[in-house]
Amino acid sequence: MTHIAATVTEPHPRADSRIIVRGVHKNFGSGRDTFTALHDVDLEIQEGSFTTLFGPSGCGKTTLLRILAGLQTQDSGEISLFGQTPRAATREKNIAWIPQSSALLPWREVRANALLSKVVNRRADRRASPKRVDQEVETVLNEMGLRDFARSRPSQLSGGMRQRASLARGFVHGAPVMLMDEPFSALDEFTREALRYQLLDMWQLLRKTVVFVTHSASEAVLLSDRVVVMTSRPGRIHRIIDVDLPRPRHARLERSIEFHEKVTEVRNALQEGWS
Ligand SMILES: Nc1ncnc2c1ncn2[C@@H]1O[C@H](COP(=O)(O)OP(=O)(O)O)[C@@H](O)[C@H]1O
Ligand SMILES: [Mg+2]
Repeated sequence: MTHIAATVTEPHPRADSRIIVRGVHKNFGSGRDTFTALHDVDLEIQEGSFTTLFGPSGCGKTTLLRILAGLQTQDSGEISLFGQTPRAATREKNIAWIPQSSALLPWREVRANALLSKVVNRRADRRASPKRVDQEVETVLNEMGLRDFARSRPSQLSGGMRQRASLARGFVHGAPVMLMDEPFSALDEFTREALRYQLLDMWQLLRKTVVFVTHSASEAVLLSDRVVVMTSRPGRIHRIIDVDLPRPRHARLERSIEFHEKVTEVRNALQEGWS
């Protein structure tokens, strides 16, 4: 596995090895209809870590992710992604965005969809030889269990396979930061479970800095180094919980007492935030 990782990832010199969110505030609407989506959000994320935003609908998870991606601007506060502004990081293709439902091009085969980010990224990827790109795509498709579907069109795939292809595209993109907004929420429980582990394997291999959003406490604990528990009205961070469970994580971990204790801690933190 290690030799593959060495071909897929490239060391990026960084001004800073953190994503920093400092005092971020975001309102929607105006006057009496002003709604505070994010209130005084502070967060520091280490390069290569897996962080999950966890909280009820409407607590600002998507808004925070969109601000990190430079798709929306905050009203006040600062954001730095390894020393870059969100806009600069997006412009330089340092951010991959994985949406809730796979946004694959229906007329392209899975492989071509995965490669799309490379085509779009051609400028940023001048150094990558075609052979090397082929190798990367193949590695990612294999790891994501898509080897036999590389030549299929999205319409020929199940929802789970489409979302796998969407994740594969995110990994092929090559960006050091991956922002994932509830990527598994539309999937059935079995598919979701399988995909969690595939995501973990890919992350373990490529060590991207991931910010992931979910409503599921057990999903948050299984995947993350840290779970950011958010509450709503106004959307804010209630507590940040370290998940110091060993990696790589396997299904048997989910049956352990330590795992259940951590899930309970996350759930309790959410409830405290409500009361
Ligand atoms: N573009 C927008 N205009 C007005 N209100 C918005 C907009 N985007 C989000 N909101 C509101 O901000 C709050 C947080 O939304 P969102 O970040 O999508 O929450 P989450 O992803 O946690 O469910 C919600 O109450 C939502 O209705
Ligand atoms: Mg959302």
